[in-house]
Amino acid sequence: MAEAFLTRRSGFSAARHFHIPSMTGDEAERTYGHTGAHGHDYLIDLTIRGAIDPVTGMVENLDTMKEVLRREVADHLDAVFLNRDIPFFGKNAPTLENLALYVHRRLESRYGEALHAVALAEEEDYRVELRAGREEMYVTRTYRFCAGHRLHRPELSDEENRACFGKCNNPNGHGHNYRLEITVAGGVDERTGKVCRAGDLDDVARREVIDYLDHRNLNEDIEEFRDLNPTAENIARVAWERLGERPGGAALYRVRVYETDRNVADYYGR
Ligand code: NI
Repeated sequence: MAEAFLTRRSGFSAARHFHIPSMTGDEAERTYGHTGAHGHDYLIDLTIRGAIDPVTGMVENLDTMKEVLRREVADHLDAVFLNRDIPFFGKNAPTLENLALYVHRRLESRYGEALHAVALAEEEDYRVELRAGREEMYVTRTYRFCAGHRLHRPELSDEENRACFGKCNNPNGHGHNYRLEITVAGGVDERTGKVCRAGDLDDVARREVIDYLDHRNLNEDIEEFRDLNPTAENIARVAWERLGERPGGAALYRVRVYETDRNVADYYGR
């Protein structure tokens, strides 16, 4: 059946702390990074699916989505202290994952089968997503590095190389500010409220990929690119292989590389 997807963004600000009765302060610090009271400006993307109405040309009126988001999310969660004001977070750690589960449940009661995805971000570089029909939650962390490269293949003539790679074939190389997103997928641990510890994923990502590639000449300095063209696709693939199957403790799902804001490659290694 033909169908369309419609996404509306909204936001709210909420405070929280991570004093978990069953955890020592040290364990909470390791699990959450910071445990004291603090706040975030959360961004939510609600995606619904459905047929396009033949008269209005809409899946749903955006004003209705706006109203649902206001009633179910913003009015309910904006300017609250999650642990104290929302009973669910008296029992469950107020992690980004649990907040997404909570918001998803409220929106599901309104949209049912039409609810396709709920994505929630607590900062630019930390985002989770729930999708219809998938049990697992997707957690995405974003990192940055800069590196130089030259796209050139010895099996092609100079002319073919120039035609194929354009400016990126410049004999003396050039550089990019790369953005790399790592997405892992898994269930939310009941005790910690997390899919994996963000700090553990960051440690693996920095050691295996970011520190490894940052401020390098990819062609000259990086073993994997001795005989492999350092395109965005191949950088994503090399990152995938170096990260292993479960970086930080959850299954690797996708590596995305932005070479520029307008040029992005995704790699799925399985
Ligand atoms: Ni380039």
